[in-house]
Amino acid sequence: MTRTHRIGVIRGDGTGPEVVAEALKVLAAVSDGFLVELGEFDLGAERYLRTGDTLPDDELEGLRGCDAILLGAVGDPRVKPGILERDLLLRARFQLDQYVNLRPVMRYPGVQTLVPSHSDEDVNFVVVRENSEGLYSGAGGFHRKGTEHEVAVQESINTRSGVERIVRYAFELAASPARRGKLTLVHKTNVLTFAGDLYQRVVDEVSAEFPGVETDYVHVDAACIYFLDWPARFDVIVTDNMFGDIITDLGAMIQGGMGIAAGGKINPAGVSMFEPIGGTAPDHAGKGTINPLAAISATEMLLRQLGESDAAERIDRGIRAATGKMRSMRAGEMGFSTAEVGDLVVEGARV
Ligand code: IPM
Ligand code: MG
Repeated sequence: MTRTHRIGVIRGDGTGPEVVAEALKVLAAVSDGFLVELGEFDLGAERYLRTGDTLPDDELEGLRGCDAILLGAVGDPRVKPGILERDLLLRARFQLDQYVNLRPVMRYPGVQTLVPSHSDEDVNFVVVRENSEGLYSGAGGFHRKGTEHEVAVQESINTRSGVERIVRYAFELAASPARRGKLTLVHKTNVLTFAGDLYQRVVDEVSAEFPGVETDYVHVDAACIYFLDWPARFDVIVTDNMFGDIITDLGAMIQGGMGIAAGGKINPAGVSMFEPIGGTAPDHAGKGTINPLAAISATEMLLRQLGESDAAERIDRGIRAATGKMRSMRAGEMGFSTAEVGDLVVEGARV
């Protein structure tokens, strides 16, 4: 019997639909030995502006029923900040308990970045971002809102079990043949003496189970320096939700730009969602100028998660073929249109 994977697709807003179209083109080209069943989910700003819905319960259940989800991007300047982020993106993450946000930071052959001193080999690490708690938990509130004595509290929630599961995931990754056996905790233990202390204690404890993994620690501000000055010192980074959000944007830039940076929001025992991390890029929407490689790379991650490593490898080869020919990873400067980049990947992915 042929394996069938049911993949939920959220094309979303802005350039989301364009990059998803290229990703699905590549997915179709490498789907060999298995079947893909696509389920479309009309979610995002357009839907919200039309109907007022963000993520209705039955659609959440539909997402839960998928084997994996591919997300383009959601957002629109016409929607007040916080609505789609909290009620759609974060609601899906929390409800599906996608507690790992896995963001590889790697530089493909031929890609130019803003840091001329880096080589391809220098930039090759993975950020394991905690994705279910911390400052993103939504805990806090206002007191005396709108008065001159207003108080706004935003709390970082760090649970023992939440920290332990992300740290353990990172150790397992660092110990796997795919990585080089080094785990770096990135935090701010000198100031965040409660949350940081919990993270450090858990890393120390779990490290006893992974004698083959070397561990070290870097403050988040210093990590930003190292991303530019010595990225090769990192193999696997584990960090909290907010720090992980911030450093992976810098990580994208040392990969060549947001156009190439992919990530996976993973529930190892449930349904995971893969995405280009760059957002909707409204200035480029509908012009065929956006780089689809991040969405294509997200599809590669999705296939790996589903156990389709041959197909994933083919996408990897296709991406490498494409980056070798492109002028830049930045939208509008690629030397090719969005669809042409998709075609380059398909061609390079041929067996
Ligand atoms: C990301 C984004 C999101 C985050 C926003 C849009 C909620 O910045 O995926 O990195 O902060 O996680
Ligand atoms: Mg972000």
